[in-house]
Amino acid sequence: MNVLDAEFVKGFMRMADDGWKQGWHERNGGNLSYRIRPEEVESVREELCPGAWKPIGTSVPKLGGEYFLVTGSGKFMRNVTVKPADSFCIIELDQAGDNYRICWGLVNGGRPTSELPTHLMNHEVKFTATGGKHRVIYHAHPANTIALTFVLPLTDEAFTRELWEMATECPVVFPDGIGVVPWMVPGGRDIAVATSELMKKYDVAIWAHHGMFCSGEDFDLTFGLMHTVEKSAEILVKVRSMQDYKRQTITPDDFRHLAKDFGVKLPEKFLFEK
Ligand code: 13P
Ligand code: ZN
Repeated sequence: MNVLDAEFVKGFMRMADDGWKQGWHERNGGNLSYRIRPEEVESVREELCPGAWKPIGTSVPKLGGEYFLVTGSGKFMRNVTVKPADSFCIIELDQAGDNYRICWGLVNGGRPTSELPTHLMNHEVKFTATGGKHRVIYHAHPANTIALTFVLPLTDEAFTRELWEMATECPVVFPDGIGVVPWMVPGGRDIAVATSELMKKYDVAIWAHHGMFCSGEDFDLTFGLMHTVEKSAEILVKVRSMQDYKRQTITPDDFRHLAKDFGVKLPEKFLFEK
Protein backbone atom coordinates (compact mmCIF):
# COMPACT_ATOMS: atom_id res chain seq x y z
CA MET A 1 0.00 0.00 0.00
CA ASN A 2 1.08 3.57 -0.63
CA VAL A 3 2.22 5.19 2.62
CA LEU A 4 -0.07 8.16 2.03
CA ASP A 5 -3.11 5.88 1.57
CA ALA A 6 -2.65 4.17 4.96
CA GLU A 7 -5.26 5.15 7.57
CA PHE A 8 -2.64 5.76 10.30
CA VAL A 9 -0.81 8.19 8.03
CA LYS A 10 -4.06 9.99 7.16
CA GLY A 11 -4.84 10.31 10.88
CA PHE A 12 -1.36 11.72 11.53
CA MET A 13 -1.76 14.31 8.77
CA ARG A 14 -5.23 15.33 9.92
CA MET A 15 -3.99 15.89 13.46
CA ALA A 16 -1.03 18.02 12.29
CA ASP A 17 -3.40 20.11 10.17
CA ASP A 18 -5.92 20.46 13.02
CA GLY A 19 -3.14 21.81 15.26
CA TRP A 20 -2.09 24.25 12.55
CA LYS A 21 -5.71 25.47 12.21
CA GLN A 22 -5.84 26.05 15.98
CA GLY A 23 -2.89 28.44 15.70
CA TRP A 24 -0.56 26.25 17.75
CA HIS A 25 2.15 25.87 15.11
CA GLU A 26 3.74 29.12 14.01
CA ARG A 27 6.56 28.51 11.53
CA ASN A 28 8.14 25.13 12.44
CA GLY A 29 6.77 25.23 16.01
CA GLY A 30 5.65 21.93 17.47
CA ASN A 31 6.11 18.31 16.41
CA LEU A 32 4.21 15.02 16.38
CA SER A 33 5.12 11.35 16.66
CA TYR A 34 3.18 8.09 16.45
CA ARG A 35 4.39 4.59 17.40
CA ILE A 36 3.28 2.46 14.45
CA ARG A 37 1.55 -0.90 15.01
CA PRO A 38 3.35 -3.98 13.57
CA GLU A 39 0.51 -4.70 11.13
CA GLU A 40 0.58 -1.08 9.95
CA VAL A 41 4.33 -1.37 9.29
CA GLU A 42 3.67 -4.52 7.26
CA SER A 43 0.96 -2.80 5.22
CA VAL A 44 3.51 -0.28 3.86
CA ARG A 45 6.63 -2.51 4.05
CA GLU A 46 7.27 -2.46 0.27
CA GLU A 47 7.49 1.35 0.35
CA LEU A 48 10.20 1.42 3.03
CA CYS A 49 13.76 2.12 1.98
CA PRO A 50 16.06 2.27 5.04
CA GLY A 51 18.88 4.84 5.13
CA ALA A 52 21.92 5.05 7.38
CA TRP A 53 21.75 4.59 11.16
CA LYS A 54 22.10 7.83 13.14
CA PRO A 55 22.29 8.41 16.91
CA ILE A 56 19.03 9.38 18.65
CA GLY A 57 20.94 11.37 21.29
CA THR A 58 19.54 9.27 24.11
CA SER A 59 18.76 5.64 24.76
CA VAL A 60 15.30 4.02 24.68
CA PRO A 61 16.01 0.29 25.03
CA LYS A 62 12.36 -0.67 25.62
CA LEU A 63 11.50 0.70 22.16
CA GLY A 64 14.20 -1.26 20.28
CA GLY A 65 12.94 -2.30 16.82
CA GLU A 66 9.85 -0.04 16.90
CA TYR A 67 8.79 2.17 13.97
CA PHE A 68 7.53 5.75 14.31
CA LEU A 69 5.92 8.40 12.17
CA VAL A 70 7.54 11.70 13.11
CA THR A 71 7.57 15.25 11.78
CA GLY A 72 10.83 16.66 10.43
CA SER A 73 13.00 19.25 12.14
CA GLY A 74 12.38 22.72 10.75
CA LYS A 75 9.30 21.51 8.87
CA PHE A 76 6.03 23.44 9.10
CA MET A 77 2.84 21.77 10.41
CA ARG A 78 0.88 23.79 7.83
CA ASN A 79 2.72 21.86 5.10
CA VAL A 80 2.08 18.36 6.42
CA THR A 81 -1.05 17.79 4.30
CA VAL A 82 0.27 19.81 1.34
CA LYS A 83 3.71 18.22 0.95
CA PRO A 84 3.66 15.19 3.24
CA ALA A 85 6.71 13.35 1.88
CA ASP A 86 8.78 16.51 2.46
CA SER A 87 7.42 17.18 5.97
CA PHE A 88 7.58 13.94 7.93
CA CYS A 89 9.15 10.50 7.92
CA ILE A 90 8.91 6.92 9.08
CA ILE A 91 11.87 5.90 11.25
CA GLU A 92 12.96 2.53 12.59
CA LEU A 93 14.92 2.16 15.85
CA ASP A 94 17.75 -0.34 16.23
CA GLN A 95 17.40 -3.19 18.73
CA ALA A 96 19.38 -1.32 21.42
CA GLY A 97 17.23 1.80 21.08
CA ASP A 98 20.30 4.00 20.53
CA ASN A 99 20.01 4.75 16.79
CA TYR A 100 17.34 5.44 14.21
CA ARG A 101 17.18 5.29 10.44
CA ILE A 102 14.80 7.01 8.06
CA CYS A 103 12.79 4.47 6.02
CA TRP A 104 10.39 6.78 4.19
CA GLY A 105 9.82 10.53 3.72
CA LEU A 106 11.88 13.69 4.20
CA VAL A 107 12.49 13.35 0.46
CA ASN A 108 14.27 16.69 0.28
CA GLY A 109 16.62 15.87 3.11
CA GLY A 110 16.54 16.70 6.79
CA ARG A 111 16.13 14.80 10.00
CA PRO A 112 13.38 14.03 12.50
CA THR A 113 12.33 16.76 14.93
CA SER A 114 14.99 18.19 17.23
CA GLU A 115 12.71 17.04 20.06
CA LEU A 116 13.14 13.38 19.08
CA PRO A 117 14.83 12.57 22.44
CA THR A 118 11.81 13.93 24.35
CA HIS A 119 9.32 12.20 22.05
CA LEU A 120 11.04 8.83 22.33
CA MET A 121 11.71 9.03 26.07
CA ASN A 122 8.04 9.96 26.60
CA HIS A 123 7.00 7.04 24.38
CA GLU A 124 9.20 4.71 26.41
CA VAL A 125 7.79 5.85 29.75
CA LYS A 126 4.21 5.59 28.45
CA PHE A 127 4.88 2.20 26.86
CA THR A 128 5.63 0.88 30.34
CA ALA A 129 3.02 2.89 32.24
CA THR A 130 0.11 2.03 29.92
CA GLY A 131 1.10 -1.48 28.85
CA GLY A 132 1.67 -0.23 25.29
CA LYS A 133 -1.69 1.55 24.94
CA HIS A 134 -0.31 5.06 24.38
CA ARG A 135 1.01 5.63 20.86
CA VAL A 136 0.92 9.39 20.27
CA ILE A 137 3.18 12.15 21.63
CA TYR A 138 2.29 15.70 20.60
CA HIS A 139 4.17 18.94 21.16
CA ALA A 140 2.58 22.33 20.37
CA HIS A 141 2.98 26.02 21.21
CA PRO A 142 -0.54 27.05 22.34
CA ALA A 143 -0.53 30.73 23.32
CA ASN A 144 -2.77 30.74 26.41
CA THR A 145 -0.96 27.88 28.13
CA ILE A 146 2.37 29.58 27.43
CA ALA A 147 1.01 32.91 28.74
CA LEU A 148 0.13 31.29 32.07
CA THR A 149 3.76 30.21 32.56
CA PHE A 150 4.56 33.91 33.10
CA VAL A 151 2.01 34.45 35.88
CA LEU A 152 1.33 31.17 37.73
CA PRO A 153 3.87 29.49 40.02
CA LEU A 154 5.70 26.86 37.96
CA THR A 155 4.37 23.93 40.00
CA ASP A 156 2.29 20.89 39.08
CA GLU A 157 -0.13 21.84 41.89
CA ALA A 158 -0.77 25.41 40.71
CA PHE A 159 -1.29 24.51 37.03
CA THR A 160 -3.41 21.44 37.70
CA ARG A 161 -5.70 23.17 40.17
CA GLU A 162 -6.12 26.38 38.18
CA LEU A 163 -6.85 24.51 34.95
CA TRP A 164 -9.21 22.04 36.65
CA GLU A 165 -11.19 24.99 38.02
CA MET A 166 -11.74 26.56 34.61
CA ALA A 167 -13.98 23.85 33.14
CA THR A 168 -15.88 21.05 34.85
CA GLU A 169 -14.76 18.51 32.24
CA CYS A 170 -11.06 19.10 32.99
CA PRO A 171 -10.62 16.86 36.05
CA VAL A 172 -12.40 14.10 34.11
CA VAL A 173 -10.22 14.55 31.01
CA PHE A 174 -6.89 14.82 32.87
CA PRO A 175 -7.56 13.37 36.36
CA ASP A 176 -3.89 12.64 37.07
CA GLY A 177 -3.00 16.34 36.70
CA ILE A 178 -0.38 18.29 34.78
CA GLY A 179 3.38 18.46 35.21
CA VAL A 180 5.48 21.59 34.74
CA VAL A 181 9.07 21.72 33.49
CA PRO A 182 10.91 24.96 34.39
CA TRP A 183 12.56 26.82 31.53
CA MET A 184 15.27 24.64 29.98
CA VAL A 185 17.17 24.58 26.71
CA PRO A 186 14.97 22.58 24.30
CA GLY A 187 16.09 19.91 21.88
CA GLY A 188 18.40 17.81 24.03
CA ARG A 189 18.57 14.94 26.46
CA ASP A 190 18.27 16.97 29.70
CA ILE A 191 14.82 18.36 28.89
CA ALA A 192 13.84 14.90 27.62
CA VAL A 193 14.76 13.34 30.97
CA ALA A 194 12.88 16.04 32.93
CA THR A 195 9.77 15.69 30.74
CA SER A 196 9.69 11.91 30.73
CA GLU A 197 9.99 11.90 34.55
CA LEU A 198 6.73 13.89 34.67
CA MET A 199 5.15 11.62 32.05
CA LYS A 200 5.46 8.75 34.54
CA LYS A 201 2.68 10.50 36.52
CA TYR A 202 0.84 12.68 34.01
CA ASP A 203 -0.33 12.72 30.38
CA VAL A 204 0.43 16.45 30.08
CA ALA A 205 3.69 18.33 30.62
CA ILE A 206 4.02 22.08 30.20
CA TRP A 207 7.35 23.61 29.23
CA ALA A 208 7.66 27.06 30.81
CA HIS A 209 7.74 29.89 28.25
CA HIS A 210 7.67 27.33 25.42
CA GLY A 211 4.69 24.99 25.03
CA MET A 212 3.09 21.70 25.95
CA PHE A 213 3.54 17.94 25.48
CA CYS A 214 0.60 15.53 25.54
CA SER A 215 0.51 11.75 25.43
CA GLY A 216 -2.41 9.58 24.43
CA GLU A 217 -3.73 6.34 22.96
CA ASP A 218 -4.70 7.70 19.55
CA PHE A 219 -4.84 10.90 17.51
CA ASP A 220 -8.34 11.92 18.67
CA LEU A 221 -7.64 11.51 22.37
CA THR A 222 -4.23 13.20 22.25
CA PHE A 223 -5.45 16.14 20.18
CA GLY A 224 -8.53 16.38 22.42
CA LEU A 225 -6.33 16.49 25.51
CA MET A 226 -4.19 19.34 24.16
CA HIS A 227 -7.38 21.14 23.06
CA THR A 228 -9.02 20.76 26.49
CA VAL A 229 -5.99 22.03 28.41
CA GLU A 230 -5.50 24.99 26.07
CA LYS A 231 -9.22 25.88 26.17
CA SER A 232 -9.09 25.88 29.95
CA ALA A 233 -5.98 28.08 29.85
CA GLU A 234 -7.83 30.46 27.54
CA ILE A 235 -10.70 30.76 30.03
CA LEU A 236 -8.22 31.47 32.84
CA VAL A 237 -6.53 34.16 30.75
CA LYS A 238 -9.97 35.75 30.13
CA VAL A 239 -10.94 35.57 33.82
CA ARG A 240 -7.64 37.11 34.93
CA SER A 241 -7.96 39.79 32.27
CA MET A 242 -11.33 40.85 33.72
CA GLN A 243 -10.30 40.91 37.39
CA ASP A 244 -7.57 39.49 39.56
CA TYR A 245 -9.80 37.28 41.69
CA LYS A 246 -12.58 34.74 41.10
CA ARG A 247 -15.93 35.71 42.63
CA GLN A 248 -16.85 32.00 42.71
CA THR A 249 -15.26 28.80 41.52
CA ILE A 250 -15.31 25.00 41.83
CA THR A 251 -14.32 24.06 45.40
CA PRO A 252 -12.24 21.09 46.65
CA ASP A 253 -15.43 19.41 47.87
CA ASP A 254 -17.09 20.00 44.50
CA PHE A 255 -14.14 18.16 42.89
CA ARG A 256 -14.52 15.29 45.38
CA HIS A 257 -18.22 14.94 44.51
CA LEU A 258 -17.44 15.08 40.80
CA ALA A 259 -14.75 12.41 41.18
CA LYS A 260 -17.21 10.09 42.93
CA ASP A 261 -19.96 10.48 40.31
CA PHE A 262 -17.61 10.24 37.32
CA GLY A 263 -15.55 7.38 38.73
CA VAL A 264 -12.18 9.16 38.57
CA LYS A 265 -9.48 9.42 41.23
CA LEU A 266 -8.28 12.97 41.88
CA PRO A 267 -5.05 13.15 43.91
CA GLU A 268 -5.64 15.01 47.17
CA LYS A 269 -2.43 17.00 46.66
CA PHE A 270 -4.35 19.10 44.10
CA LEU A 271 -7.36 19.66 46.39
CA PHE A 272 -5.63 21.97 48.88
CA GLU A 273 -7.43 24.84 50.66
CA LYS A 274 -6.36 28.21 49.23
P1 13P B 1 11.53 21.09 15.23
O1 13P B 1 11.29 21.93 14.01
O2 13P B 1 12.94 20.58 15.31
O3 13P B 1 10.49 20.00 15.36
O4 13P B 1 11.39 22.04 16.50
C1 13P B 1 10.20 22.75 16.75
C2 13P B 1 9.97 22.97 18.19
O5 13P B 1 8.86 23.25 18.58
C3 13P B 1 11.11 22.82 19.14
O6 13P B 1 10.67 22.76 20.46
ZN1 ZN C 1 8.68 23.67 20.73
